[in-house]
Amino acid sequence: MDTPGNDQTPGKGQEPQMAEGQAREGSVTWKIIEYVFDKPFLAASAVGFGIHILLAVNEFITIRGNYITDLGQDFVTNYIYATFKILIPFLIPFAITSIGKMITTRSNKTSLTYFPEANPDIVMKLSHSGEPIYINRSAKGMMECTGVSGPEALLPENYREMIQDIVPGTPHGPIRKTIGQTELAYTFNCFPDELAYFVSGRDITQKARLEDALAHAHENFTNMVDFLDEKLDTFEEETFRFDAHTMEMMDHLLDDGTGSGPHRATHIFMAERDSAGSLKGHIYKKEAGRVVGLPELIEIDPSQDRVAITLGEKDVVLSNWEDSGSTLEEYQRGFHHMVRQRVGTIERFITYRSGDVAILAFFKGRRVDDFDARELKGLSVFSNSLKRISDKVEETRNAFRYTVDALARAAEANDEDTGEHIVRVNDYSHAIAEVLGLEQSFIDNMHYSAQMHDVGKVHVHPDILRKKGPLTGPERKEMMMHPEYGARILGESPRLALAAEIALTHHENFTGGGYPGDLKGNGIPISGRIVKVADIYDALRQARSYKPAFSHERAMEIITRGDHITNPSDFDPEVLAAFVSIEREISRIYDDSLLREKSWTAK
Ligand SMILES: [Fe+2]
Ligand SMILES: [Fe+2]
Repeated sequence: MDTPGNDQTPGKGQEPQMAEGQAREGSVTWKIIEYVFDKPFLAASAVGFGIHILLAVNEFITIRGNYITDLGQDFVTNYIYATFKILIPFLIPFAITSIGKMITTRSNKTSLTYFPEANPDIVMKLSHSGEPIYINRSAKGMMECTGVSGPEALLPENYREMIQDIVPGTPHGPIRKTIGQTELAYTFNCFPDELAYFVSGRDITQKARLEDALAHAHENFTNMVDFLDEKLDTFEEETFRFDAHTMEMMDHLLDDGTGSGPHRATHIFMAERDSAGSLKGHIYKKEAGRVVGLPELIEIDPSQDRVAITLGEKDVVLSNWEDSGSTLEEYQRGFHHMVRQRVGTIERFITYRSGDVAILAFFKGRRVDDFDARELKGLSVFSNSLKRISDKVEETRNAFRYTVDALARAAEANDEDTGEHIVRVNDYSHAIAEVLGLEQSFIDNMHYSAQMHDVGKVHVHPDILRKKGPLTGPERKEMMMHPEYGARILGESPRLALAAEIALTHHENFTGGGYPGDLKGNGIPISGRIVKVADIYDALRQARSYKPAFSHERAMEIITRGDHITNPSDFDPEVLAAFVSIEREISRIYDDSLLREKSWTAK
């Protein structure tokens, strides 16, 4: 079989040859020969050395030959001389190597003494009791820089006790020491032979500051993510309000004056650019832990007013007054006088601009850095996104309300009611729900859902709706279908659920006998109970083919005492009491609506 394995298997005749070649190539002698002849100088020396040995041996043999034949006097001298000649090639390299070693050791020792001096870190040698017996140049420099009195003051307070526990050969540390603004980190080592200590210390002020900034940035980032997470979790289109979220964002950005936690701004100026290019906005700060917006509107014309917010093309600008190359007083000139008045002495700031929105955050205390700027940008981007969502939500909400309005008005078109009837029923229902202390979202929802109570009338024939005289049995039956038609039109949409509920139940009676479900008491939804009284009051106030328009007083009398059509027991007593308690407001809603209607008609 023709396989790679078969190809690699050597033939019978080849095997011994290869083994012999491998043995020769792998031997030590061969390796030395290879090594020597690979280097021309060594090769020449080896050849010279060989010739020298041969000549010396030859001389030795000649001397020995002479001795045997002549027995001359100078035999010993010549014999020693010849032996020495043979040894010379061995003695010379030995002597050279020994001298070289001596020189190198001496030189190394000299450079090692300079090594700690050239070290940018602090280097100290301590005696067994902790007394500094050597300090390098950097340690002296650090003493000058920090103004400490001696090398001991540079070391951690308890270093004398601490060094007693050090295991020889095992580095101990890092141990931190703070002197003013300077942060040092030390490592201790023990020399077991001398019973002395070697100390190495590094200035980590910058590193410590960055670690601190990173920790704060991490905390801020975590807060921001939690904030975003919570907002998205609880996001509801109907209740979403941008202003409330702006205040919450400010709460994250502003300092509460405790001085703990992340570096936060003392004041924030939030401005929007108008079509003329001016920046308008308010300054926010925290008072007793709560965010407050200062009432004065600050308006800045960048072409005339000097203000830091207009600086730079970059979207983020951060500034510390120390870097401005001027005094703190001169630094103030870069800011609008109104901003200066509200904020006080400005030491540092960060601006972020995105589209037409600009945020200027003012800080005190430690320098602002890239982390602070990124955090501000992060929150601002998030805030802008919320603003965009809010605008879209508002747009959708308006479109929805417009559609709902149009639908409600279409249903009224064939009825005797005017367009204002549905607006008033909205207003009465809203007012009653408020008095009953119901949930705010329900109260708001009532304000646009009540108007759709008769939307089902679009399915009722116009002749029935407009008939002047009393309705026949089948006509009445058809008319009484409008609640169900309405609920069907409004369908299953969650946004129209309350409207559908109202459409279906606004003709039910509290004590029974209403339609279409003949429901009773609390079996009738509160929305239906509220709209029932609102709708009847408004119908009483208007002229109908079968009755004149009643005054407020008469309408209230009919509702509370009853007449041949209306029975007070039809109403929920609690709803009725709430309605009566705000009868002045109810009357005002009607009167205002009448005025509006008249002004429209006049136009
Ligand atoms: Fe109705
Ligand atoms: Fe109505």
